[in-house]
Amino acid sequence: MAKLITLRDVYKIYGEGLESEVRALDGVSLDIERGEFVAVVGQSGSGKSTMMNVLGCLDIPTRGEYFLDGTDVQELTDKELSRIRNKQIGFIFQQYNLIQSLTVLENVELPLIYQGINADDRYDMAMAALERVGLAGRVKHKPAEMSGGQQQRVAIARAIATKPPIIMADEPTGALDSRTGQEVLKFLQQLNREGSTVILITHDNGIAATARRVVRLQDGKIVEDHGQEVDWL
Ligand SMILES: Nc1ncnc2c1ncn2[C@@H]1O[C@H](COP(=O)(O)OP(=O)(O)OP(=O)(O)O)[C@@H](O)[C@H]1O
Ligand SMILES: [Mg+2]
Repeated sequence: MAKLITLRDVYKIYGEGLESEVRALDGVSLDIERGEFVAVVGQSGSGKSTMMNVLGCLDIPTRGEYFLDGTDVQELTDKELSRIRNKQIGFIFQQYNLIQSLTVLENVELPLIYQGINADDRYDMAMAALERVGLAGRVKHKPAEMSGGQQQRVAIARAIATKPPIIMADEPTGALDSRTGQEVLKFLQQLNREGSTVILITHDNGIAATARRVVRLQDGKIVEDHGQEVDWL
């Protein structure tokens, strides 16, 4: 079986050839197997979000190959890419990215509407996800009426409602206090134990240390890749 994710010599270059050229990804090769929990760590500007955007099919590399589940991503149409984003990947971001005018339930249901899921199933899936994150009692609230940790749990419910096989989280604990952040991390680990592949982006070495495998980026290059063989959980 093909690896879940294979990046081969991937470059993302902004302003190529100009004096201001930035190599956000500078020849990155990486394999990720199904079921892994990988932390991508590095300083601000090292290329972490760029890597997540490429892995999440939100951005296209300047050069290089990306195979997702054996499929050459470069050959997909925009429609196919958006289908992969919707079905295969649950995204979680630092700033939650909730829509303030919608209720908690509506926020979780929104991507399900885009996927054409009917109203009954949508409700059931959204409620099941909100129950998982312990927010079934708050579904009529608006994001502004919730704490940061609760808002991130809403965002997690939104990410997992369709049970995507891959979770990609870009600094999911960045706006949270350390205890709330730990809860979010534990939840990601729980999802991983249940079979999800988790890719966690963080600038925090302590948070990265909770992952079985740590990939370190520096100036767009992978400078360390630790723990592939180690299973200490
Ligand atoms: N649209 C863009 N145009 C030009 N340069 C960009 C663009 N997006 C990102 N960059 C540059 O690419 C490099 C990597 O950015 P990226 O956002 O991936 O870093 P990061 O590791 O996620 O940083 P942070 O920890 O601050 O989120 C940075 O130098 C950034 O300025
Ligand atoms: Mg970033």
